[in-house]
This record gives sequence, structure tokens and C-alpha cells, in this order.
Amino acid sequence: MIRIAPSILSADFLNLERSINTVLENADMLHIDVMDGHFVPNISIGLPIVKAIHSKFTIPLDVHLMITNPDNYIDDFAKAGANLLTVHYEVCNHLNRTINHIQSLGLKAYVSLNPHTPIHLLNDTVEYLDGVLVMSVNPGFGGQKFIDNSIRRIHELFKLKNRINPSMSIAVDGGINVDNAKKVIEAGADIIVAGSAIFKSNDPAKTIMQMKGQL
Ligand code: DX5
Ligand code: ZN
Repeated sequence: MIRIAPSILSADFLNLERSINTVLENADMLHIDVMDGHFVPNISIGLPIVKAIHSKFTIPLDVHLMITNPDNYIDDFAKAGANLLTVHYEVCNHLNRTINHIQSLGLKAYVSLNPHTPIHLLNDTVEYLDGVLVMSVNPGFGGQKFIDNSIRRIHELFKLKNRINPSMSIAVDGGINVDNAKKVIEAGADIIVAGSAIFKSNDPAKTIMQMKGQL
């Protein structure tokens, strides 16, 4: 079962409700990119937007924290309505504690790896995770080009997952479109995150179905 998480970073912020409505029927969750200008060279959206979306929609909210010190904000994002929280491996000194914290609040805990972070660094963590988010671009911006060796990395993670935690999810984020979604899925991904390919297309609902291979 392939799930699609449209990233609202590429939605129309002046008409966010309308943008979300264009994907609502076909999307499996909404991906919300939180950036702090420190971990990534960009600042995006935060708690009030998560709260506002949660007050209006019941679709699961997948919040991608591209921030340093994510531990300080886990409770707040849980309260704001996140269902799934992703933290970056590169900023967690006590990753196991961070994962436990997220899960103790009843949320799914995912860890994300930047394109330069070796997959094997998660050898001793995957058994505790609900999922891993493989970055297939350098995080910070929508609309970037897919980094090709991500396919090899997804495959390596897929083997690790099958060995240690087969029920874990593999999400992939960055530069995914209708043309390359198939090879991302074949490499082992079961959640596709896509922003510009969905929200900048003429028919976001159709684009999602094409990515799932159902059209
Ligand atoms: C990038 C974000 C992504 C971004 C993806 O740092 O984490 O979620 O929205 O955008 P596209 O699909 O346009 O590469
Ligand atoms: Zn993201």
C-alpha cells in the first residue's frame, strides 16, 4: 500500500484551505515542513498553522521538523494536532530518548536522514521507529532536483527494515514527481512526500493517483 503525503510547502498560502481541499480525497496524510533558519537555510511555518489545519481537517498531519533542538517542541506539536513527528538524526544527541518522548504522547516517531548521512547510522535505531524519512534533496526548499543515489539509499534501508523491523515505514521526501515515483517505490518506499509536483500541477488529485500507479 503506497501512501502519498502532499507537502503544503508548495500550496497556496493565501488560500491554504482551498489548496488542501484539492488533495483531501486522494492524499493519505498532509506533510507540513517546519524550518527554523538554523538547521536549514530557510524559515517556513510553525505551530499556529498546524493548529489551524488541525481545527479544520481530520486528515493525519505528518510534521517534518527541520529544526535544531526538536526536543523542546515535541509537546507543543503534539498539542497542536500532529499525528506523526519526524526529527532529524543530525540534530538529536539522544535519539532514543527523543523517539520515546514522541511515542509516549501517542504519536508516530520518524527519523529523517539528510542525503549525506549514512543509512547504517540507524542500524541500532530502526527497531524502535515507526518510520524513516529519507531526504532525496538537501532539506530547506521545495522544487529541487531528486538526488540520484537516493535510490540506492532507499534500497539499503529497505534491506535493514526487512531484517529488523518489517512493519516500519519508509518515506522519501524531495524532488519526487510522476516520472520518478515508480523507481522510488520499487526501491522500497511506501510513503511518497511531494510538494511542487502535486500542488503546482493542474490537477493535484490526478497527480496523486498517478504517483500511486492507479492511473
Ligand atoms: C524540503 C521539504 C520537502 C519539500 C518537498 O526541505 O522537506 O517536504 O516540500 O518539495 P518538492 O516535492 O517540491 O521537492
Ligand atoms: Zn519535508
